[in-house]
Amino acid sequence: MSMREQWGTRAGFILAAVGSAVGLGNIWRFPATAFENGGGAFFIPYLFALLTAGIPLLILEFTIGHKYRGSAPLSYAKMNKKAEWIGWWMVIVSFVISTYYAVIIAWAMSYSIFSLNLQWGSDTQGFLFENYLQVADPGQFGGLVPGVLIPMIIVWAVTLGVLYRGVKKGIELANRIFIPTLVVIFIIIVIRAVTLPGAAEGLQAFFEPDFGAITSGGVWVAAYGQIFFSLSIAFAIMITYSSYLPKKSDITNNAFITGFSNSSFELLAGIGIFGALGFMATQAGTPVEEVVEGGIGLAFIVLPQIINEFPALSGVFGFLFFASLVLAGLSSLISITETYVKGISEKLGISRTKAVTLGGGLAALVSLVYATRGGINFLDTADYFINQFGVALLGLVEVVAIAWFMRKLGDFQEHANSVSDIRVGGWWKVCLGIITPLVLGYMMFDLFRQNLL
Ligand code: PHE
Ligand code: NA
Repeated sequence: MSMREQWGTRAGFILAAVGSAVGLGNIWRFPATAFENGGGAFFIPYLFALLTAGIPLLILEFTIGHKYRGSAPLSYAKMNKKAEWIGWWMVIVSFVISTYYAVIIAWAMSYSIFSLNLQWGSDTQGFLFENYLQVADPGQFGGLVPGVLIPMIIVWAVTLGVLYRGVKKGIELANRIFIPTLVVIFIIIVIRAVTLPGAAEGLQAFFEPDFGAITSGGVWVAAYGQIFFSLSIAFAIMITYSSYLPKKSDITNNAFITGFSNSSFELLAGIGIFGALGFMATQAGTPVEEVVEGGIGLAFIVLPQIINEFPALSGVFGFLFFASLVLAGLSSLISITETYVKGISEKLGISRTKAVTLGGGLAALVSLVYATRGGINFLDTADYFINQFGVALLGLVEVVAIAWFMRKLGDFQEHANSVSDIRVGGWWKVCLGIITPLVLGYMMFDLFRQNLL
């Protein structure tokens, strides 16, 4: 019998799971999403989604990985031969996400260097699109942009290098270094942000509750969407990572720790980002609402503007901010890439080394598409598609297949309870079998309605 690779320590597993969860979604997605969906009142649907879907699904995926000790396709196949495709679907979605996630980390890497002398100048938007991404360069469409290509090679080299080294010496070690460093850097930035003049106005705008908002279905959909993406659930990642757990491992406790750590990081990011936005609004003499932004615009256009206005040490803080994006992003990219590496290695019966070369190499090649002039358009499309259809639909398929078709929740409850301190009760089956499918079903319905009408 061949030995399955294992985590060296419990902390190693938790750091890796938290490393996967904490990513760009926490830093640039959560703050704007919360603000636009009720501000302080968003915490009600958000906490509800965390407790009814986020943590229950983490427990489910940890249980599956721990019980079947396989990548997502293998675990689903062991559950039921006919269910293997669900695992492959998750693996394919992970593959697609990894191809563009890598590009954003590469941009952040470039920007950490640009920060040092505020190279982006005062027209940060023009700098991003024209100088850095060279999208406005007509006639050259399709050519590789060297400024993006070089950091991308570094990002993939680090990711694949970590995966070549395996679970304990690679993934665990990288997260042991990245995550504590990330937390320290991030706390420094947040302290700086909330002590800037005007930060209080930003925080007030962020936390001001609009209780009326939570009567709208859209706000609940946003809360569930945020929880799924942010906790990396329904992407096969948590199944893969927990397949390396030793037999004696507390599943439910680990799930609660992972879930709450991710949300704490999200809250911290919200405070930091809105402190900085309050500063910007004060400088510009406009209300905070007018400067709120998320995603690429926030990280690569608005924040550079804010950093330009810093009273002192702007280069250092700019560097630290983009370094934190790189660390948060890399630990997530490592986890996404590991899911298909492991899937391929088990399916084809090839070594980790070969699977990393094959799967990771292919992903790196595909991701070159986004390093071309105009490649940002592909990135937008991929991201839109994954977020709109990948997340909710996969989550729905996962819970319905397990709860209703295979009727496995009882077995899994027993399995989780046989190793955990916190007992999983009937509430867990209600969350996964009824509440989550209803909410995700409504999300899908809403999406199709919006897209077809
Ligand atoms: N959870 C990560 C984040 O919040 C993103 C991610 C999604 C990572 C899916 C892996 C898989 O940014
Ligand atoms: Na996250």
